[in-house]
Amino acid sequence: MREKILVIGAAGQIGSDLVLELRQRHGNEAVVAADLKDAHPDVMNSGPFEFLNAMDLPALKEIVAQHEITTVYQLVAMLSATAEQHPERGWELNMTTLFHVLNLAKDGHIKKIFWPSSIAVFGPTTPRDNTPQETVMEPNTVYGISKQSGERWCEYYHQKYGVDVRSIRYPGLISYKAAPGGGTTDYAIHIFHEALKNGKYTSFLSENTYLPMMYMPDAIRATLQLMEAPAENINIRSSYNLGGISFSPKEIAAAVAQEVPGFSIDYAPDFRQKIADSWPASIDDTAAQRDWHWQPEWDLNGMVKDMLEKLK
Ligand code: SER
Repeated sequence: MREKILVIGAAGQIGSDLVLELRQRHGNEAVVAADLKDAHPDVMNSGPFEFLNAMDLPALKEIVAQHEITTVYQLVAMLSATAEQHPERGWELNMTTLFHVLNLAKDGHIKKIFWPSSIAVFGPTTPRDNTPQETVMEPNTVYGISKQSGERWCEYYHQKYGVDVRSIRYPGLISYKAAPGGGTTDYAIHIFHEALKNGKYTSFLSENTYLPMMYMPDAIRATLQLMEAPAENINIRSSYNLGGISFSPKEIAAAVAQEVPGFSIDYAPDFRQKIADSWPASIDDTAAQRDWHWQPEWDLNGMVKDMLEKLK
């Protein structure tokens, strides 16, 4: 049976890039984009789009049946900073939207699921440097608790019901197509917009806050590599660590200053500092290297140059 793909959350930061790449590979008609709001014009103009509230199970079921969907990328979530402001809504959205697709697979309506997890599954008691795949995980944010619980449910559905669900613990993702939505790592995107507009930026994280980050082209490549790997290679059904580039606000500011003469940064840490302080500084992703041959391509300077070029 031919693979037909549904991307829920197609207007979001990952969806905006992922839909286009999937359409390149599978053909425009084979990839249905869905969201509550219009997606990027490139997404809207290149293939099918459905308005969907991912909490609405009957509506989701109808789209899956109508388009004979086999694979779902469920990207809807309330991110870390926003979920701290709306704990109950964050929990409800993040868990319900995951259960909807897990149950669709369990009941035989779809065959394969991608669901993003995050470095937010780790917490203040986790080893910070080169954080291992398997380690202490005591997340202390609503978002992190929902992603950690989601990972447990993914593994459970795989073991109990044979659901083919695959997942990546994304680092902070940097991209230019769509604005990020309420994350703690978003400073590393705002900095580019402000550098080009005003030549300066005030970071909401302090200068030496190291976090794992990744340029979107690498994240999309990782996602497709994982989804295309043979099922027998996927040894981890909770979620794979993914490393990328580790840097601080001070380091990315220096890289931006090389490209934008006169650029300056100052620091005014807010409530997001505490979230960042509870997350790893760098990630060990040898399991992804071993199981689906993961290798990153982008480094800090290359990413900074490309971001500035694309945003100009
Ligand atoms: N980038 C996300 C956030 O900051 C983490 O997954 O919320």
